Amino acid sequence: VSNATTEPNKPGQIAGYDYGSPKLDASPVTLEELERLRETVGLTTDDERYLHLAAEVLVPQAEAIVDAWRQIAAGLPYLAVYSARPDGQPNPAYGAASKPRFIRWITDVCTRPLDQDWLNYQHEIALRHTRAKKNKTDHVESAAHIPLRFLLAFTAPAISVPQRLLEASGRSAAEIERMQTAWMKAVILHVTMWSRAYTTAENW
Ligand code: HEM
Repeated sequence: VSNATTEPNKPGQIAGYDYGSPKLDASPVTLEELERLRETVGLTTDDERYLHLAAEVLVPQAEAIVDAWRQIAAGLPYLAVYSARPDGQPNPAYGAASKPRFIRWITDVCTRPLDQDWLNYQHEIALRHTRAKKNKTDHVESAAHIPLRFLLAFTAPAISVPQRLLEASGRSAAEIERMQTAWMKAVILHVTMWSRAYTTAENW
C-alpha cells in the first residue's frame, strides 16, 4: 500500500499528480498577488499551524471526505454530468483515476507552503476543471467544462464536510474552532486562485 496520500513530495506515485513537476506551465499569478490574497483571506502563520493540526484529523479520513463530496455531486443530476460519460452512463474509471489526487489535495491544503510550486499546481487544477484540460489527465470522455458558478458554489461543501469531521475530532473547543477557521480560509484561497483560469488577467 502506497503512502503517497500522506507523504509530502512524492509526485510520481499518483497518476497525473504533477505537483512540483517541471512539465507544468508557470501560473499566470505572481507570488506577490498570492501574498495579497493570503492577507485578504487572513490566513496567518498561526492558521498554518492549525492546518497542520487539522491534517492529523483529516488525512486519515480523507477518502471518506472525498466520498462525501462525490455523494453530494452524484445526487445532483446537473453536477453528475461532469463525471459521467457523454451518454450519461457512469464512468467508474474516471472516478477511480482522479480519486487519489482528490485525497492527496486534502494533505496538500494542510501542509504545502504557498510557493511557486503551489501556484503552478493550483493553476493546473483549475485548468483541469475547464475545457483546456478536463478529461485529459485520465484520458476519459466526459463533459468538457465545469462552469465557474458550480466551482464557486461547491466551496460550501468543500468547507463544511471537513469542518464536521473536525467538530467530531475530540479536540478542545478552542482547537476545533481554530482548525475549522484555518480550513475555511485555505479552501477560499484555493478556489480564488482557481478562478484565474476562468477569466482574463484584466478581469481577475
Ligand atoms: C470548491 C470546489 C471544488 C474543489 C475543492 C475541487 C477539488 C478538486 C481536486 C482536488 C481535483 C483533483 C485535481 C488534480 O488533478 O490534482 C479535482 C478534479 C475534478 N473535479 Fe473538482 N473541485 C471542486 C469543484 C468541482 C465541481 C463543482 C465539480 C463538478 C460537479 C468538480 C468535478 C471535478 C472533476 C470531474 C475532476 C477531474 C478533472 C480532470 O482532471 O478531468 N469539481 N477537483
